[in-house]
Amino acid sequence: MVAGEPDESSCLEEAVYEGDGSLSGSGRMTRPVSGMGFHTLDDFALRGKRVLLRIDINSPVDEKTLRLEDGSKVKASIPTVRELVDRGARVTILAHQGRPGDYDFIPLNEHAQYLGQFLSKKVRYVDDLLGPHAIKAIDSLSDGDCILLKNVRNFPEEQAKKTPEEHAESALVKTLSPKFDLFVNDAFGSSHRSHASLVGFTAVLPSAAGRLMEREVRTLTNVIQSPKRPSTFIFGGTKFADALPVIQKLAERDTVDNILVAGLAGYTLLWVLGNRIGSKTEALASRDLTQEVRDGAKKLVSTYGTKIHMPIDAAADVNGHRREFKLHELPTDAAVKDIGSDTIEKFRRIVLESKTVFLSGPPGVFEKAEFCKGTCDLFDAIIESEAFSVIGGGHSSAAANKLGVLERISYVSTGGGALERLMMGKSMPGIEALRASAKRF
Ligand code: 3PG
Ligand code: MG
Repeated sequence: MVAGEPDESSCLEEAVYEGDGSLSGSGRMTRPVSGMGFHTLDDFALRGKRVLLRIDINSPVDEKTLRLEDGSKVKASIPTVRELVDRGARVTILAHQGRPGDYDFIPLNEHAQYLGQFLSKKVRYVDDLLGPHAIKAIDSLSDGDCILLKNVRNFPEEQAKKTPEEHAESALVKTLSPKFDLFVNDAFGSSHRSHASLVGFTAVLPSAAGRLMEREVRTLTNVIQSPKRPSTFIFGGTKFADALPVIQKLAERDTVDNILVAGLAGYTLLWVLGNRIGSKTEALASRDLTQEVRDGAKKLVSTYGTKIHMPIDAAADVNGHRREFKLHELPTDAAVKDIGSDTIEKFRRIVLESKTVFLSGPPGVFEKAEFCKGTCDLFDAIIESEAFSVIGGGHSSAAANKLGVLERISYVSTGGGALERLMMGKSMPGIEALRASAKRF
């Protein structure tokens, strides 16, 4: 495998190491011991080392107050920050929030407060990225200190479509890289982006994956490549067009036994196949339904029909109340908001027999008590099954959190777009850049 090459399956494969495995002068192992082709924190001595750490703490922001809705994304980065600090590194953190022009493109002061709170240690926010204030703050760090620089998307070329080598020529990388001994990428949730702060430093600095990145890649690769069987992948949520390419790729895999499609995505699929789902549901379903998606969906079911399981009944909103109907009995103007009891029972049986269960997107409008049953009962089945369970995407973890079962899920991924891309077997620029760096340094 050539690192950095857009090989369709490269993100899932262990790179073959070709170095000599010797200790370099800086006390680091040149051989990645992770077995994933990139270095991890295990490969480096850290005391006194100047570490540039990229994390993904891009959080939901309240549109009115412009405050973070919660600190859960910040919390996921804590193990790596804590380890770097505890092992005596001098840590400078780079992160983004929102995109220029969007309401959630805000400074990172509050993120720094959350970091400090979770670490029980002051994390100074420096409102500068590569100017004299940033450089002074970096230079004045002592062992175990930690600062957070300004939102990296203030750098105009951060999001430019460039290769790692081209990004390495940017002012961001040229100015900051001489200040550091090691670059650590723990931003799994952003690793599908080829942005300067994610791929530029790997070209010029020894680089390692942080603990979150390491865990995400290891766990998700296992679940996709060699899940314990029978394996069941549940898709819910509202966007069938987004789920379809992922479902198509999974369906092709021999190790994937069942794909359950619920939520609006499931009813959209039923509609494409010729079922009526009620005019209000159809209006929602039609929003991103192109001819290409329709054709793809039909082909999916005709090719892999035995693996694909769809709802057989539905719970609709009738004057604000839950009413269940067989599919063919749905009122013509129905607004479907959850899977019905027969579907729940059918899906429950499949889940109970599974050894691996992956869930992306809730099966119903779990936020409303009347329409939470499908989500609630499926989560119960997942826990009862004792399968290795993985959930991904912000809405799934919000649902698990609301239902109080988050702690009982085996693995909760922080990835949204990144997870989707990984599941499709597509190359991940942030991960490939780490692998390329491991061959160079
Ligand atoms: C995310 O939250 O999806 C990641 O932080 C990446 O952000 P982006 O989608 O704005 O590139
Ligand atoms: Mg995103």
